[in-house]
Amino acid sequence: MTKRGGFATRLGAIAAAVGSAVGLGNIWRFPYEAGMNGGGAFILVYIGCILVMGIPVILSEFIIGRSTHSNMKAALRRLSPGKKYYLFTYLCILGSFVVIGFYSVVCGWIIEYLYQAAIGQLSGHTPQEYNEMFSSLVANPWRCVGWTILFLILNFFVMSRGVEKGIERVARVMMPLLFVILAIFCINSLLMPGASKGLKFLFYPNFSALTMRGVLDAFGQAFLSLSIGISCLVTYSSYFKDDTSLAKDAITVAGLDTLVAILSGVMIFPAVFSFGVEPTAGPRLIFEVLPGIFQQMTGGYFWALLFFLLVFFASLTSTISLSEIPITFLIEERNLTRNRAINWAALVTFVLATLAALSFNVLDDIKLWGKNIFDMMDYAASNIFMLLGGLFTAVYVGWILDRKVVHNQLTNNGRLKARFVEPYLIFCLRYVAPVSIFFIFLYLTGII
Ligand code: PHE
Repeated sequence: MTKRGGFATRLGAIAAAVGSAVGLGNIWRFPYEAGMNGGGAFILVYIGCILVMGIPVILSEFIIGRSTHSNMKAALRRLSPGKKYYLFTYLCILGSFVVIGFYSVVCGWIIEYLYQAAIGQLSGHTPQEYNEMFSSLVANPWRCVGWTILFLILNFFVMSRGVEKGIERVARVMMPLLFVILAIFCINSLLMPGASKGLKFLFYPNFSALTMRGVLDAFGQAFLSLSIGISCLVTYSSYFKDDTSLAKDAITVAGLDTLVAILSGVMIFPAVFSFGVEPTAGPRLIFEVLPGIFQQMTGGYFWALLFFLLVFFASLTSTISLSEIPITFLIEERNLTRNRAINWAALVTFVLATLAALSFNVLDDIKLWGKNIFDMMDYAASNIFMLLGGLFTAVYVGWILDRKVVHNQLTNNGRLKARFVEPYLIFCLRYVAPVSIFFIFLYLTGII
């Protein structure tokens, strides 16, 4: 068997896990979801979901990964010998491809905007022109596919450097930078004339704007944002060292991820209100609304550049964690070398991402339930794959896995205390998570 790679330092491991969690989900998706679903009301539901489902499922993935130091399939085989639970791995791999498929298209748009910002083309336009700029980008198959593939090449280049020299190093450099840039934006945003209106919109719980659909979106958003349900954190934690506290790490990851999501709202909404634009713009918010705002700010050129750099860092550390799922699987279960595994994973990703990139132009008449390929992938990823995966993980660790494994992992074989954490975890996994996910499915299937 080939020697497994691993994270060299605890900080590196945390940076990588936070890097996975913090991504487009926080900066691009969270603000517009909150904007469309009643601001503070959405945030309250979201935080509740993190507490009763997010942290317990993160911890479960950590337990599976670190107790076995192997990929999901080998882990489930080892933890439940003779049982077929390991088949769940295939759902995870499929899920990871679906996520990265639509995700990398948005990353492609980010690189285009980064480029436009760098050459100074992102300023000096009317709001109408910003709309047209984005529309003409997504309508152009060459540009969409080209940027997406460029992003993916970069992604797989990092992967080819390995766990420590690729993933860990990139995360250790990019994550602190990301926090610094975000802090600068937030301070600037709070100093704007419309700040209080923006903050009120973000934090005041307007329950009348929150529908059942919004509640469901909060759940899907939490799963997507925390990278749970498709064994991503199983894969990362399989590289963790045996002496780190899993509970602390899980809380750190969830805490920082939520903080970045909320700070992204703080960065965006005051600006949106100060410049009098619609806060409910949806997925186009950061592409159509923000550039218009940047150009009205002093030093707009740098703000725009800095912003898209921030989003770029966040997305790259997420896609590398997504592609590590099939890559580890191929190396360990199919005995491929790391480079061959990367080639296969890259090939599948290129195909899916190209389909998603073409769904706004060449393939835009392919629609199911009114959704194009991109929207279907986005929807299936967070509302089906990750939720189902989260349910499986919760039920598996809560009901099936030997309690001794859970206890030993939480306490590092008796060296740490877990007097509160363990019962909390088990209660959430056994009852809260399955019941909530069950209701979500009833809702999704139209039964309630
Ligand atoms: N959590 C990432 C984000 O918020 C997306 C992601 C999902 C990454 C699943 C890895 C696995 O953008």
